[in-house]
Amino acid sequence: MNNRKIIIAGGTGFIGQALASAWGRGNEVIILSRYDGNSESNRFSNQLIRPSHTPNITYRRWDAMHPEKHWTNELEGADILLNLAGKSVNCRYNDANKKAILSSRINSTKALGKAVASCIHPPKVWLNAASATIYRHAMDLPQDEYTGEMQDDFSVQVCKQWEQCFLDQTVKDTRKIILRMAITLGDGGVMAPFRRLVGWGLGGRQGNGRQMFSWIHIDDLRRAIEFLSEHDDCSGIFNIAAPRPVTNRFFMETLRRSMQAAIGLPAPALLLTLGAAIIGTEPELLLKSRWVVPSRLVEKGFIFRYPVLPSAIAQLCQTKADKPERNACFLNKNGATL
Ligand SMILES: NC(=O)c1ccc[n+]([C@@H]2O[C@H](COP(=O)([O-])OP(=O)(O)OC[C@H]3O[C@@H](n4cnc5c(N)ncnc54)[C@H](OP(=O)(O)O)[C@@H]3O)[C@@H](O)[C@H]2O)c1
Repeated sequence: MNNRKIIIAGGTGFIGQALASAWGRGNEVIILSRYDGNSESNRFSNQLIRPSHTPNITYRRWDAMHPEKHWTNELEGADILLNLAGKSVNCRYNDANKKAILSSRINSTKALGKAVASCIHPPKVWLNAASATIYRHAMDLPQDEYTGEMQDDFSVQVCKQWEQCFLDQTVKDTRKIILRMAITLGDGGVMAPFRRLVGWGLGGRQGNGRQMFSWIHIDDLRRAIEFLSEHDDCSGIFNIAAPRPVTNRFFMETLRRSMQAAIGLPAPALLLTLGAAIIGTEPELLLKSRWVVPSRLVEKGFIFRYPVLPSAIAQLCQTKADKPERNACFLNKNGATL
């Protein structure tokens, strides 16, 4: 994809940075972030965006709550608006975190809705992040966009309200797409802790290992976003998941094999529950069975580059082996560290 104007709200995270690095080579990319280059304690200083590689990336500060001229103007004439903003769910679900997880997604979506509605030349397409975790804990049947079922636990409630908020935004000349993304495998994100576990000899199954693990390679996530943006007949909900989900046991085995780990001790559910409490996260993130398939993407003719897990993991492990550790600064177009 080339010569597009792309806005990525919440584009400083794992997915946003991977997409910006790829798109920044042939497109104009503008990232909306709550931080700017003046922050002393900036937490992005270890992330890599080399201006020489990605000269077309600009950062604009927003508060992710209110539409303000200095960033809403950037939306004029955009080809793609992608919203990835939201507090990470990798935390304990106490009242404060629950509130922040939900409000960060709702407020940013509303702010973008107002901004798009005020444009003279609004973005052609608006893709809003959502999550494949909207479907129930499924051990029996795959869940797709047509027949998938939902339960009413906290994460599902968040997903439902997040999607509803997006659907409620009235933007008459902008095509809207909901990206129900599966766990994204790339350089960062969940791969980092999984690789650490395997490295420590703890890369066995989690729980009984029979829970399903729906996943997508980061390249296919990017390609799916490009595909959906370029196809005017695509709108509404899309599961963004590889067509061949696996069990947790198979995922861990594949990772161990790729990393040539001799042993992989399993982690029973009780141990995971205790461990999650100690490190400040939720066991659900590992134990929920996510059995999600991309029926609509396949129907529309999208071809996955990584439809099966072993080749996806092999590619990611190879890339990791080829690449030195990230140590460059996170720079904006003007060279200021963010
Ligand atoms: N990674 C996955 O496997 C996966 C799977 C399904 C769905 N998703 C969803 O996809 C989106 C992007 O995922 P990611 O892995 O790239 O997430 P991430 O690394 O946590 O990045 C999310 C971005 O959201 C912004 N943000 C964080 N807290 C915020 C808050 N309180 N208010 C407003 N903005 C906030 C941050 O940007 P600034 O700090 O620069 O403002 C951050 O860079 C998230 O909404 C996530 O729920 C991810």
